[in-house]
This record gives sequence, C-alpha cells and structure tokens, in this order.
Amino acid sequence: MKDKTEFLGYEEHEYNPIIRKKTLELLKELLIKHNPKYILEIGTFIGYSTAVMLKTCQDAFVTTVEKDEKNFAFAVQNLTDLGFDGRFQVVNKDAFEFLQKTNKTYDFIFLDGPKGQYIKYLPIIKKLLRKGGFLVADDVLFYGMVNSSDTIKHKHRSIVNNLRKFLDALKNDDDFKTVVYEFEDGVSVSEKIK
Ligand SMILES: C[S@@+](CC[C@H](N)C(=O)[O-])C[C@H]1O[C@@H](n2cnc3c(N)ncnc32)[C@H](O)[C@@H]1O
Repeated sequence: MKDKTEFLGYEEHEYNPIIRKKTLELLKELLIKHNPKYILEIGTFIGYSTAVMLKTCQDAFVTTVEKDEKNFAFAVQNLTDLGFDGRFQVVNKDAFEFLQKTNKTYDFIFLDGPKGQYIKYLPIIKKLLRKGGFLVADDVLFYGMVNSSDTIKHKHRSIVNNLRKFLDALKNDDDFKTVVYEFEDGVSVSEKIK
C-alpha cells in the first residue's frame, strides 16, 4: 500500500492526526488475530487507518464516520483509488448522531474521533459491539496528561477529565477486559467478554 504521505489530502494539512507507528502495529496484530468481518471506525480523517484495516482484513467491511466534509471527500477518493470499492462506507456525519441511529452490530470498533466524547459514546458503542468483539480507542492518555498528577491547563481539562472517566468506566465494567498501552499517545484495548 502507498505511504500515508501519498494519500490525497495529506499535504493540505499542516498537522496530520494519523495513527502512530506502534499503535498501528498493535491494531494490525489484533486484526490479524481476530479477523473481524464488520468493523466500525469513528474518525476517518483522509482514510489511512481505514485503508490499513481493509488491507489487513481481506474479508472485512469497514464503516467509518467523518464529520469534516473535506476529509470525507479525500477519504472516499483515497479508498476508491486503492481499489477497496464495495468494502467500505464513509459516513459524513457527526459520530454521535451516527451512533444514535445505527442498529448494526460490529466485531471490531476503532475509536479515533473527538477524545472528549469517548465517554458519551461508550454506552452506545457497548451495545453495538458483539460479545467477543474488540473496542480499540486511540489517544486515551492525551499527551501524558491523563495519568499526570500535575494541574491540567484549563483548555485541556475537560478532555482529560472525560478521558479519565472513559478509562475508569472501561476498567470498572465487568463486561469488558481492558488493557491500556502507554506507548505513543496511549491506546486502550477492550474485549467484550460478556
Ligand atoms: C485522529 S483523526 C482520525 C485519524 C484516522 N483514524 C487515521 O489514523 O488515519 C480524527 C478525525 O475525527 C474527525 N472528527 C472530529 N470530531 C468528529 C465528530 N464529532 N464526528 C465525526 N468525526 C469527527 C476529525 O475531523 C478527524 O478527521
């Protein structure tokens, strides 16, 4: 597959919030091991992680949600150019709006959208994830602030508090078995065991 820097839209952005190397390796490892058929991604950006998931799981269908219209258009073009036609749907909507309306069940959910909203999405995501399925959430440690005892700057406080609530909710939920990996920006992996 082509490099992320060759994806349409990459050069348009000064900062490209694309999945980091180790997190990507972990994601691929989980996908190879569990071979999900129906994958949901929240936060498409220009379609890089979507493309990796489609390439890794040759039988999978990926539904991915992106609020930004420009990113949505780039993602559709990138995924089509890569030959994934018929195996993906990019939904141009606010993730919460999408989650409230969908009634499909997924084998694997990759949560990589607005970090402050993860806790709000969790009850719906739990319902949409089948038993034995996996929820992988990226950036859960938010530049180390989530585990830090330092005072959090006002502008980050709400995101950090919400991520703390999200991780606590996962860890205290007996229906999930959760591991938090502390590399890069932190990634949680939760298996829905009940
Ligand atoms: C971290 S990036 C996704 C990166 C992508 N998963 C990858 O690794 O290639 C997060 C994306 O979520 C989108 N986003 C932010 N808020 C959203 C919302 N409320 N609903 C849907 N998408 C949202 C942003 O526009 C951005 O493209």
